Amino acid sequence: MYDKVPTGLDRKETEVYRRLDPARLPKHIAIIMDGNGRWAKRRHLPRVAGHRAGVTAVRSTVETAARIHIPALTLYAFSEENWKKRPKSEVGFLMSLLSRYLKAEVPTLNKNNIRLEYIGRQHELPEDVQERMAWAREATARNSGMVLTLALNYSARSELVDAFRSMVNAAAQNGGLAHLQIDEDTVGRHLYTRNLPDPDLVVRTSGEMRLSNFLLWQLAYAEIYVTPTLWPDFRGLHLLEGIAEYQKRERRYGGLNHGDGHAPLETSSALHERKT
Ligand code: IPE
Ligand code: IPE
Ligand code: MG
Repeated sequence: MYDKVPTGLDRKETEVYRRLDPARLPKHIAIIMDGNGRWAKRRHLPRVAGHRAGVTAVRSTVETAARIHIPALTLYAFSEENWKKRPKSEVGFLMSLLSRYLKAEVPTLNKNNIRLEYIGRQHELPEDVQERMAWAREATARNSGMVLTLALNYSARSELVDAFRSMVNAAAQNGGLAHLQIDEDTVGRHLYTRNLPDPDLVVRTSGEMRLSNFLLWQLAYAEIYVTPTLWPDFRGLHLLEGIAEYQKRERRYGGLNHGDGHAPLETSSALHERKT
């Protein structure tokens, strides 16, 4: 077992990793990075200090996920609603933080063989940020390891609207709307996430129990892990703990799959027989 621990994990991470079944790691993990503002407030700092501290959490989480060979990691960095509803100064700070993150992080992404992607309405972002994003994507395009997708100006409802529009446009160009055939695969192929498997696990930090318009279609059967840890305090170790919790769950997809640790159906009737 010992030699199978991936290189680069620290002592505590190694301890948690040893409890995991490497054959049942999630293929795609999605994270709602929440609680930056509260982290800053607790320290009597401005909200933006929480966002700045959140970058350390991103770095640690991304590196650990890549080291244990998670094929895809998607981070909800900011929503369309954040963009529209937060003060201009905070949004401006987030934009410049993103730009600086991309510039600083490309060498580390390359070192870890990580390929960068984006989901969200990119064309609504400031042009210089779009250029930086395109540059970082291009600089990591030849990596063959983990796909790191940043959700920027993302809204799941907008994604679905864009997918429906794209289906209609594609049909119009291919013989007209009479040929429009819609099923689940068709919708999936028109989503921003068309090249990714659906997430197996969605993590939300800071204790909030909602999806906040994140990947509504794709999370249909994802396991949900909510941790009270605020995003700036989150590290690779916390991700591994979330995966350990995920591996304890029994996924049923609507069926009757009584796996390990769950009483088979016969038990209740056997009990009933003994009583009567
Ligand atoms: C998450 O932290 C980061 C973004 C949404 C950009 P918040 O800024 O939502 O922090 P809280 O929820 O106010 O603590
Ligand atoms: C969700 O967090 C969006 C991101 C983490 C980017 P919010 O803080 O915006 O969500 P609500 O407003 O609490 O639902
Ligand atoms: Mg929040």
